[in-house]
Amino acid sequence: MEVLIYESPEAAALQAADIVQHTLHEVDAPVLGLATGSSPLLTYRELIRRYRLGELSFAGATAFLLDEYVGLSDGHPEAYRTFIERELVDHIDLSVTSVHAPPVADDALRNGLEQYDEAIRLAGGIDVQLLGIGSDGHIGFNEPGSSLRSRTRMKTLTGATRSDNARFFGGDVTAVPHHVVTQGIGTILEARRLVLIATGTAKAQPVAAAVEGPLSAMVPASALQLHPNATVVLDDRAAAELRQAEYYREVQSRKPAWQQP
Ligand code: GLP
Repeated sequence: MEVLIYESPEAAALQAADIVQHTLHEVDAPVLGLATGSSPLLTYRELIRRYRLGELSFAGATAFLLDEYVGLSDGHPEAYRTFIERELVDHIDLSVTSVHAPPVADDALRNGLEQYDEAIRLAGGIDVQLLGIGSDGHIGFNEPGSSLRSRTRMKTLTGATRSDNARFFGGDVTAVPHHVVTQGIGTILEARRLVLIATGTAKAQPVAAAVEGPLSAMVPASALQLHPNATVVLDDRAAAELRQAEYYREVQSRKPAWQQP
């Protein structure tokens, strides 16, 4: 696992944007895995800025969202599909029809959600998957206890995650859905590259548990330890609990110019 540490969330976002830009340049018909939540927002703003400058294009790309709430109305401002359109897709040359979200309608939930993993597979698999991390160590909405080989499926949120996310619902925890559909940990691990972005003091403990703790279903993000090409992009605050931080900084400062960003 590569751990990159920057002095600010803005600098971390530049690095995450570099990785996405590299994929857009290197891959024909790239497939992006997009995360929601606050962690990737600065990265999306940087990608939009570069798109406006003509430095990159999403034409020909396809995107798959990591997760979605169950039970929100179509177009609800906090539905992840709405969120990603508002924060990214509406500002770049990626067609909304090329952006896929996990199905959350009743019949899809009843009939199984394998179709989402199958759609990712038919698109050629995800080239680069962006991720955040929950305060309880979740990735996507794979809460602690999720099978490390899980596939896209419905999950029930913990009280802690609903409280964390209440800030997006006007502070009203009762407005946060109980159910979600998320790519499974096994699904996420099939992406060719993983990029986890975490900034701020609140992420220091879950980041340390994921990067340096034991591999455990109780810390779903620790599954990144199983991936051959995972990069964790942090600011100093999110890196504060890492025992090996000095070593990661040493590796980062000596990264050969020929290596991928
Ligand atoms: C949310 C999302 C995750 C996100 C995480 C952290 O509940 N489902 O995809 O990475 O929790 O959110 P944030 O980036 O807002 O801290």
